[in-house]
Amino acid sequence: MSTDPQTWHYGVVARWWAEFNQTGPEIDYFRRFVERGQPALDVACGTGRLLLPYLRDGLDVDGCDISPDMLELCREAAASEGLSPTLHAQAMHELDLPRRYQTIFVCGALGLGSTRAQDLEALRRFHDHLEPGGTFVLDNQVPYADARGWQYWLKEKRSELPEPRREPRERRMGSDGAEYALSHRLLAFDPLAQQETLEMRAFMWKDGELVAEEEHRLTMTSYFRDELVLMLERAGFVDVEVRGEYNDAEPSPVDEFLVYVARRAGDVEY
Ligand SMILES: C[S@@+](CC[C@H](N)C(=O)[O-])C[C@H]1O[C@@H](n2cnc3c(N)ncnc32)[C@H](O)[C@@H]1O
Repeated sequence: MSTDPQTWHYGVVARWWAEFNQTGPEIDYFRRFVERGQPALDVACGTGRLLLPYLRDGLDVDGCDISPDMLELCREAAASEGLSPTLHAQAMHELDLPRRYQTIFVCGALGLGSTRAQDLEALRRFHDHLEPGGTFVLDNQVPYADARGWQYWLKEKRSELPEPRREPRERRMGSDGAEYALSHRLLAFDPLAQQETLEMRAFMWKDGELVAEEEHRLTMTSYFRDELVLMLERAGFVDVEVRGEYNDAEPSPVDEFLVYVARRAGDVEY
């Protein structure tokens, strides 16, 4: 089995991200950490949903992502505003950058395409890319957030996989005049590895004619709160805190995302 990360953020899926994923509560939430500690690194920055608003505000933030397609669209959007971010095409478990950071953050990406061992290695590398006293912030969807996915922890339900293919429900018009649609399904779930394998089909039409149809796969490893805390500690972090869904409150059972804030030991606290 290949150990290259398996993700679907390429081609038409990357275009979809650039066109339609530009908002969300994460932008303001992560911004406060960046404001307190720069330079900052946006790991798995994608097409720049967080990175671009921060750069626009004059914050010193670099980006990295495994997908050159996502980075290219990020670079194009930045250039259209006269911005020229430093972007690196690297898998997070192979992160090896020339700069050290006061803040490193990962939004919506830990566990995508990677194995559990690679995720632990990624956490180690984030730790090592921080200045002493620097802050690491990570959000992570809880494994029980999605009722449709959660049922496949039961072996009776797993025997029904793969899910049938579905035609995309809606087409959306992009700023380039093309129409886009996505449709995904669960192919397999391994409860030991806590890993889903998903398939994404992506479509693009121009003037009503289908001009691109792609199929990608993504693996996604889920983590429960306490195992992620242990992983962060094993990676060398101290003062690991878990917070609710972009609200700084204690985590609650209704939170679908949890935020982990940890520090590299050192004199200076940011
Ligand atoms: C859900 S998108 C989130 C993008 C951005 N952080 C945001 O919140 O808008 C996930 C991103 O993670 C990237 N990615 C997936 N697996 C990765 C890996 N193993 N290393 C680095 N980036 C990865 C994808 O290319 C994609 O850009």
